[in-house]
Amino acid sequence: MTSELLIQTSGQQSSAADILRERILQKKARVGVLGLGYVGLPLAVEFARAGFDVVGIDVQQSKVDQFNGGHSYVKDVKDDVFRPLVESGKLRATTDYSVIRELDTIDICVPTPLRKTKDPDMSYVVAASDAIAEHMHPGLLVMLESTTYPGTTDELVLPKLEERGFSVGKDFFLCFSPERVDPGNPKYQTSNIPKVVGGITPACTELGALFYKQALETVIPVSSTRVAEMVKLLENTFRMINIGLVNEMALMCERMNIDVWEVIDAAATKPFGFMPFYPGPGLGGHCIPIDPFYLSWKSKEAGIEARFIELAGYINGRMPEFVIEKVQKALNDASKPVRGSRIHILGTAYKRNIDDVRESPALDIIHLLQRLGATVTFSDPFVHKIHINGTELQSQEMLPCVEAADCVVIVTDHTGIDYASVVEKSKLIVDTRNALKGFRSERIVRL
Ligand SMILES: NC(=O)c1ccc[n+]([C@@H]2O[C@H](COP(=O)([O-])OP(=O)(O)OC[C@H]3O[C@@H](n4cnc5c(N)ncnc54)[C@H](O)[C@@H]3O)[C@@H](O)[C@H]2O)c1
Repeated sequence: MTSELLIQTSGQQSSAADILRERILQKKARVGVLGLGYVGLPLAVEFARAGFDVVGIDVQQSKVDQFNGGHSYVKDVKDDVFRPLVESGKLRATTDYSVIRELDTIDICVPTPLRKTKDPDMSYVVAASDAIAEHMHPGLLVMLESTTYPGTTDELVLPKLEERGFSVGKDFFLCFSPERVDPGNPKYQTSNIPKVVGGITPACTELGALFYKQALETVIPVSSTRVAEMVKLLENTFRMINIGLVNEMALMCERMNIDVWEVIDAAATKPFGFMPFYPGPGLGGHCIPIDPFYLSWKSKEAGIEARFIELAGYINGRMPEFVIEKVQKALNDASKPVRGSRIHILGTAYKRNIDDVRESPALDIIHLLQRLGATVTFSDPFVHKIHINGTELQSQEMLPCVEAADCVVIVTDHTGIDYASVVEKSKLIVDTRNALKGFRSERIVRL
């Protein structure tokens, strides 16, 4: 199909764009979300709340069953919001891709992990694009939300969607819109985080922006999919490099016997030109440790070595070992070797107040301590179990473990923990997050 698709309606010819625009404005567009994880589920909820009929598609039958049972498995979306949307029929899920034929819009929210070699693993985006291509039809608006390297939408997704002869910007519409959700953030959630969107053609951008405006507070159109892809990578690379810088500061301060936390707090009093970042046990989650490597991979192709990214990646990757050195030294000062010691890890999620352990430094720290011969337990109010080298560890009751441990290591600074009791009952604490700010004790060792 090379010329603009024109559809006969009541004697007049309307373009696919005109029809889609009307359906979006009247909230009659049938909305699809492909990939119902931390990103896809909240997005589906926002469009159902805005009055659209929404279908979620996922390959995991267990997720689809939970979804259709009215149970939200994403902590930031509460069941009392989720269940009524499912019960009213506004929101449903399926594993059947053929539903795409009935949709007007589809957002792709599938994982974009790294391979062991730190190259992008595009297999999920490819599978999602193939599924859409198979059920492609005139008038469909496709948005890729998965974080990825610049060029993915036009080089990888677009050719697949054009396979059947449909023409972008005329017969169907394609955008990239980075997902910026911050799980556990009480102030900013899917609905009030400004949404950047860039299309392959101006018509794609216009329709993508119109679509998001129906459910989200602020929409920022940009000139192309590549700009939109790069926006997300700039944001996450900015964080990753600044965390790398402050982690290096922590290593320097350790050697110079300076309290890095006090330095940062004092520097943050400067009312301009400084933004505080904090050191920690290492990066975690599905974004900051991964996304910058999508950029460095792509920039190599363009002949540029992303040196900041590689260096920050190296420093951040060293942090779990630095924590182990701290634990070793603290135990040695108390005349105990790590081998045979009982060590309790407080918090395993990659950041505070969430249940996600993907890429969490806690996993590396536990693994390294076990290799050194320590007996390791953990407690986390959000995480019930973790797997270390194929072995399952269950979260334990906190205070008895704290009391029994030779050393407690605070890896995640969840709020709501009774830190006063932790300080009172432990023999030794290595605090990697400054969770014990304000507590004074010789038994506390800070990062
Ligand atoms: N989690 C975050 O905080 C966050 C924030 C911003 C951006 N992102 C990005 O958003 C994307 C999704 O991340 P997430 O955290 O939601 O991942 P997730 O693993 O929680 O969810 C992805 C879902 O996609 C499903 N899926 C995989 N392949 C599929 C296919 N071919 N068809 C249908 N469903 C499929 C999986 O079963 C899973 O339910 C990633 O690119 C990530 O980098 C994540």
